Amino acid sequence: MTIDPDALLAEGRARVAAARTTAELEEARVATVGRSAPVVLALRGVGQLPPEERGPTGQRLNGVRRELEALIDGREAELAASELEARLAHDAVDVTLPGRLVPRGGLHLLTQTRREIEDVFVGLGYRVAEGPELELEFNNFTALNIPEGHPAKNVSDTLWAEADGVCMRTHTSPVQVRTMAASPPPVYVICPGRVYRRDTVDATHSPIFHQIEGLAVDRGITLADLSGTLRHLARALFGEEREVRLRPGFFPFTEPSVEMDVSCFLCGGGGCRVCKGTGWIEILGAGMVDPNVFGFVPGGAYDPEEVTGFAFGMGIERIAMLRHGIPDIRMLYDNDLRFNEQFAS
Ligand code: PHE
Repeated sequence: MTIDPDALLAEGRARVAAARTTAELEEARVATVGRSAPVVLALRGVGQLPPEERGPTGQRLNGVRRELEALIDGREAELAASELEARLAHDAVDVTLPGRLVPRGGLHLLTQTRREIEDVFVGLGYRVAEGPELELEFNNFTALNIPEGHPAKNVSDTLWAEADGVCMRTHTSPVQVRTMAASPPPVYVICPGRVYRRDTVDATHSPIFHQIEGLAVDRGITLADLSGTLRHLARALFGEEREVRLRPGFFPFTEPSVEMDVSCFLCGGGGCRVCKGTGWIEILGAGMVDPNVFGFVPGGAYDPEEVTGFAFGMGIERIAMLRHGIPDIRMLYDNDLRFNEQFAS
């Protein structure tokens, strides 16, 4: 058997030099100085050599092994350093880069308008109440003094559910009924929400739209309270100089009933395009709660001899359209950002 330490050293060096990563270097370590590496096997074979060769060859082989080990350790330090550097360069975060701008969302004009109206009434001590959109015929009609056979109950106006006596609410007035059934007087509530009617879509109609209802019931409430409260609302929405006027109207659940106009905010009352030359714009329906409606409240908690009240209802779309000169109700539902962004809040 011949042992050539120089050849073993050269082979080992080449092997270590070829390792490009710490993982490859680990393989090279096993192959060059591991338990079955050629140098180690050769060292085991030294005993078979002629006695005079054993000493020098053994020393030489040990030297080769140490040299290879030192080489591997040095190479390992180098590779670890360059791998760390590569990782740092790759994972680096440039904290000086300008941030990416995320466009900020805003509230839809209808939401803004609803909240503004709510705020006016919350400021007067009213509470916000809500009710379901799928409503009992009793709450939507009967308890509001709308009798069987009334044209408003017609299938051509109301969306009826398959279940008997259930419909999509056609106005927010059923929330009046629910409120009174749930709590004794006094009540001061406003009830915003979505309502449904069998209407064909055009510039001023939509089968789904939003209303806000108001109800105040207490001892001694009069039409003057209704008028003063709604004038306060009209001024908050359309400007402090606005006047209001009440015209006779009709709703089955109020008596007397009124339609309220606000003096035109564009021309101030002289007559223009917005008020169609009249100086006045109709904004809501209202009236004194009909005693019959109190009579429908279960438990007799609302005694018409003890309490009186007023109620009003308005379309949120209509208020928003008037205030912003929006010509078509559909613009409020299209979600065209060019429209919505004009009202970004
Ligand atoms: N509910 C009526 C409507 O939808 C509005 C209204 C509410 C009128 C309360 C009077 C009192 O037109």
